[in-house]
Amino acid sequence: MTETSQTSLMQRMLDYANRPDPYPLYEELRRTPVRREEDGTYLVGTYREIVQLLHDPRLSSDARNRPDGGAGAGEGDGMSFSFILLDPPEHDLLRRLAMRHFGPPHRPAFLDGLRADMARIVRERIDAFAGRHEVDIVDALAYPFPVTVICDVLGVPHEDEPLFHEWVEEIIQPGEATGPVDLEARRKRAEQVISKARDYFAGLAEERRQAPRDDMLSGLVTDDGPEGRMSEDDMLNTAVLLLIAGHETTVNMIGNGTLTLLRHPEVIERLRREPQLIARVFEELIRYDSPVQFVPFRTTVADVEVGGTTIPKNAAVTLVLGSGNRDPAFCADPDRFDPDREEREHLGFGGGIHYCFGAPLARMETQVALGELVRRLENPRLVNDPPPYRRNAFLRGPRHLQVAFDGVR
Ligand code: HEM
Repeated sequence: MTETSQTSLMQRMLDYANRPDPYPLYEELRRTPVRREEDGTYLVGTYREIVQLLHDPRLSSDARNRPDGGAGAGEGDGMSFSFILLDPPEHDLLRRLAMRHFGPPHRPAFLDGLRADMARIVRERIDAFAGRHEVDIVDALAYPFPVTVICDVLGVPHEDEPLFHEWVEEIIQPGEATGPVDLEARRKRAEQVISKARDYFAGLAEERRQAPRDDMLSGLVTDDGPEGRMSEDDMLNTAVLLLIAGHETTVNMIGNGTLTLLRHPEVIERLRREPQLIARVFEELIRYDSPVQFVPFRTTVADVEVGGTTIPKNAAVTLVLGSGNRDPAFCADPDRFDPDREEREHLGFGGGIHYCFGAPLARMETQVALGELVRRLENPRLVNDPPPYRRNAFLRGPRHLQVAFDGVR
């Protein structure tokens, strides 16, 4: 069944007033598994249908297939895109070439080596809370920690980190635009910033070519695997993609995760007694309050039948992961945060060929950060509930998270 509504549900999802709690809107969305909006775009919010579409090759991620031909997707001068905006076979090859420098099997010790660095960075950040009784967890930990990690992974010098802060904010802003004019201006600005970021990486890549180090950028520009080397253009797009993807997502994961835990002090108590529970807690946190609420920008390249509806060719489809994660048809009592639940599946990292490339890194980062917070803060509690949120609706999380505590262990 297709339903055409008077008010665009997407507009309400984008409305900042709904940022602290979009879940009632998703309940409405799930009443119609495949919902046609007045502008001809489609929203899908039920678990089964989202999974089906994530695995359907007739749903294209290629920005050039969009009705606007990818204008404003904001990459490469000659309209080349990073692999998140491509389909097979280009997507698969670029993803494999990038993966080669990211972890097993080619760099088996890579993630383990990072774990020790992560523990140190988090420890130092929490040490700095000593003598205080209140901190903004976003500014003091959730933001700087993943940014430092992704810069280390890529091989970006720490002194350049502030540059990225500004760039990433500009690049993701189209996700929070409020009208067509606003959207156009922000897209243009995002394109300019991406071009600056590409120039920056081009300079850094040249340095690494001359003097390689143990980082991803050095690998991408010096080490040819059996499938050859990425072109300069693809390498720059990949570096910018990883920088953005490695920034905002884990920041919001740690922010949302801290908020949920502080709303469930009994789980904090259990985690203190059973630190290994953090792995289960992580999976439930990402299901319960996903940092990536929806995947926009899929386009049908043929008619696609799903949930009793035919989505016509050339339609824009948004998969609302945050809604699928709370679908009662997939998970009993979905609005309850329950780390003991049997179902461990979720859509937090997407699915299919675009399944999150950085998932092992994000899992590790979040587990280290939340595990240490729980262990070290005495009697932590929220100062404002709900906290102020970032404007972005699809990369959703608190902008600030003031936490009071009695001391630091
Ligand atoms: C893709 C979520 C952290 C790199 C995705 C997708 C989701 C997601 C939902 C699928 C997008 C789509 O289908 O179009 C998350 C969440 C994170 C996280 C919730 C944190 C908790 C990271 C990190 C990195 C990263 C730390 C960097 C290393 C990527 C890349 C893709 C991706 C490169 C594109 C994969 C492809 O197109 O094949 N992520 N992500 N992500 N993520 Fe993450």
